[in-house]
Amino acid sequence: MKIAVCSDHGGYELKTKIIAYLGELGHSVMDFGCYSDKSVDYPDFAFPMAKAVATHVFERGIAICGTGIGVSICCNKVKGIRCALCGDVLSAELTRKHNDSNILAMGGRIIGVETAKAITKVWLDTPFDGGRHEGRINKITEFENK
Ligand code: RB5
Repeated sequence: MKIAVCSDHGGYELKTKIIAYLGELGHSVMDFGCYSDKSVDYPDFAFPMAKAVATHVFERGIAICGTGIGVSICCNKVKGIRCALCGDVLSAELTRKHNDSNILAMGGRIIGVETAKAITKVWLDTPFDGGRHEGRINKITEFENK
């Protein structure tokens, strides 16, 4: 899968570990920055990454900041993005099944590396359930298009 990844300084360390893990899983990864733990502003990285997912240059995105909250707010401002902030594996599974989320957000200062890897794996592997959830996604898309 083609996956876009971004972080700010608060998510930088976890992002480097997730990028390595994605490589081990055989995914193709593009890192939209940041590229060190020097203080930066998360919108500068989250918006370009989310736009690249929204325009289908990448199939999915993973955004990491200190809490995951800042990047998730940014990503969800981009039309076509359904970004889910996850701190546990069940939420990661259900947001794929129910929300067809296309960006996963995580908090580098909130969760450990092994939890983040488990969340990432299940989020990438779980398909959208469709069915009754399809109509709900359509309502989000209709709202965006108003
Ligand atoms: C940066 O200090 C921090 O505010 C950021 O990583 C994130 O947690 C914002 O939501």
